[in-house]
Amino acid sequence: MEHRGDPGGGALVRSALVTGGRGFVGAWLCTALLDRGVDVVSLDRRAPRGRPSTLALLGIEDEVREREGSLVDRALLDRVLADRDVDTVFHLAAETIVGTVRADPAAAFDTNVRGTWTVLEACRERGVERVVFASSDKAYGAHDELPYREDLALRPTAPYEASKAAADLIARSYWPSYGLPVAVTRFANIYGGGDLNFSRLVPEAACAALDGRAPVLRSDGSPVRDLLYVEDAAAAYLAIADSLGREEVRGEAFNAGGERPYSVLEIVAAITRLAATGVEPDVRGAGNPDGEIDRQYVDASKLRQCCGWEPRVGLEDGLGRTLDWYRAHPEVRPPVS
Ligand SMILES: NC(=O)c1ccc[n+]([C@@H]2O[C@H](COP(=O)([O-])OP(=O)(O)OC[C@H]3O[C@@H](n4cnc5c(N)ncnc54)[C@H](O)[C@@H]3O)[C@@H](O)[C@H]2O)c1
Repeated sequence: MEHRGDPGGGALVRSALVTGGRGFVGAWLCTALLDRGVDVVSLDRRAPRGRPSTLALLGIEDEVREREGSLVDRALLDRVLADRDVDTVFHLAAETIVGTVRADPAAAFDTNVRGTWTVLEACRERGVERVVFASSDKAYGAHDELPYREDLALRPTAPYEASKAAADLIARSYWPSYGLPVAVTRFANIYGGGDLNFSRLVPEAACAALDGRAPVLRSDGSPVRDLLYVEDAAAAYLAIADSLGREEVRGEAFNAGGERPYSVLEIVAAITRLAATGVEPDVRGAGNPDGEIDRQYVDASKLRQCCGWEPRVGLEDGLGRTLDWYRAHPEVRPPVS
């Protein structure tokens, strides 16, 4: 990762807590923080049996201090913040799988909403200097007006979207109400190696293509998505944290995405071409699958202007790196039936 030093000129992040550090994006963010010499602690729940930690897969398990437990355990959060004298919290832990949230919304609201206010309360009491909360572009819900800008209304209709929107509003209220320097991120679909959530488009299609299976499209391929490479996402979290000393960043939301939207068919066709295993996308659906938003992409100009961030990894390059990662990690690929 190129992002070293303190581009914002403000105080440096010295000691960071990443909630959800064993997960896909959290582990890449830990890598970026270590690369800057930051002391990093991860708080994550006990992994389901057989599920590896992305921290271990990225080879940084020994460099990150790990605490195991739940987000809603306030006493544990207090101990973690105090033990490491944490100055910056990146709150990423969440129930992230749309289908899991739909199946058990109460459990997901507990993690995604109560978990968020529990983290915020711990940060407020401790006087943490910066908090970056991972909301999502899904919080916007379906809008005719695209790209999403940060001043659009949040109009969630599905439980995952609603959980992110609720936590987004709660998190931002902590700046005007309590003076806690917090910003929220509404990033587009993040992709890259180490994502073990195989219900997501890119990891599913990448592993299928590498294993010589035709990736199945549950839509007709026309839905439009915005893809953000995971190291660009990590750089965006850091750019926001670096800028939280400035008034115009506090209490604000920031989008980030790739340079332009792509249709699902374009994305999967690029994956099969780059995998070069002779398979083609298998388009089985009609229109958009139930419960998914048809067209989503973000305007990231606010983040560029306020924090100097821009994506560095284009789609072809990012998909190539992603395929290389899964090629090097056959052990995590879903079994071929
Ligand atoms: N991946 C994306 O495309 C994307 C896009 C926008 C926003 N986000 C947000 O970024 C964050 C990280 O997403 P990800 O893709 O890395 O997901 P992930 O599922 O890989 O990681 C989430 C982590 O949270 C942990 N977790 C869940 N419940 C917990 C609890 N109660 N206590 C402690 N830890 C708990 C999980 O064990 C997991 O390691 C999420 O908040 C997600 O909503 C992700």
